Amino acid sequence: MEKKDSSKLKKLKFKRISSNKMDARSEAFLKRMLRRRSVRHFSKESVPISLIKDAIKIASSAPSGANKQPWHFTIVKDRFLKKKIRSAAEKEEKLFYQNRAPDYWLDDLKKFRTNWEKPFLEDAPFLIVVFKKSFTISGEKKTKNYYVNESVGIASGFLLTSLHNVGLATLTHTPAPMGFLEKLLNRPNNEKAILLIPVGFPSENAEVPDLKKKRLKDICNII
Ligand SMILES: Cc1cc2nc3c(=O)[nH]c(=O)nc-3n(C[C@H](O)[C@H](O)[C@H](O)COP(=O)(O)O)c2cc1C
Repeated sequence: MEKKDSSKLKKLKFKRISSNKMDARSEAFLKRMLRRRSVRHFSKESVPISLIKDAIKIASSAPSGANKQPWHFTIVKDRFLKKKIRSAAEKEEKLFYQNRAPDYWLDDLKKFRTNWEKPFLEDAPFLIVVFKKSFTISGEKKTKNYYVNESVGIASGFLLTSLHNVGLATLTHTPAPMGFLEKLLNRPNNEKAILLIPVGFPSENAEVPDLKKKRLKDICNII
C-alpha cells in the first residue's frame, strides 16, 4: 500500500525577470565563467573566511537525490594541518607520477607541467575538502542516500562557481587515493573525501596552460 505523507507543500516564490534582463544576465555570467581557470600557483595572502562560508552555503543549496544533501565540507586554515596534508598528498602523488600512472595519462598531463610537488597545498590560505556520504548516521539510525556522486558533483560545481564569482581562484585537486584526508581530518567512516580544493588569490606570476574549450556544436545537439 502507498504510504501517505502529512507534510504540506508550500507556494513557490518565483521572481520572473524581463527578457532583456535575462539576456543581460546570461551574457555577463557567460563572460565571467569563461574567465575561470584552475590555478596551481597561489599567493599566501589571506582571504576573508566569510567568503568561503558563503560559498559553502551556496554549494549546500544544490539539488540532491531526495534532498539528502549527502556532503560535508571541511575548511582547513591551520598552517600545520595544511603542511601535513601537503606531505601526505605528495606521498601519493610521487607514487602516481613514478609508478601508478600509465604512460598515456602522463602524456595527457605534460601540458600542465605538473609533478608530485604540491606547494599550493601550503600556500593557499584555505583548503576545502569535499566529502561524499553514501549513507547518513544519526544516533543509532543509518539511512541511505541516493545519487550521491551526482549530488556531490553538482554541489561541488556550485562551490567552484561561487568562489570564482567573488574573485577567488581554485584548483580541483584529486591526490588519489584520498583516504589520508579522512584520517587527518578525523571524519566519520561514512564520509569519503572526493576533492581537495585550495582557495585564494593566484600568485603574481601564476601561469596556466593554454587550453581550448570545445565549441557548442561539438558538445550539444538540438532536436
Ligand atoms: C575531477 C577533477 C580532478 C582534477 N584533478 C586534478 C589534479 O589532481 N591536479 C591538477 O593539477 N588538476 C586537476 N584537475 C584540474 C583539471 O586539470 C582542469 O580542470 C582542466 O585541465 C581544465 O582546466 P581549467 O579548469 O583551467 O578550465 C582536476 C579537475 C577535475 C574536474
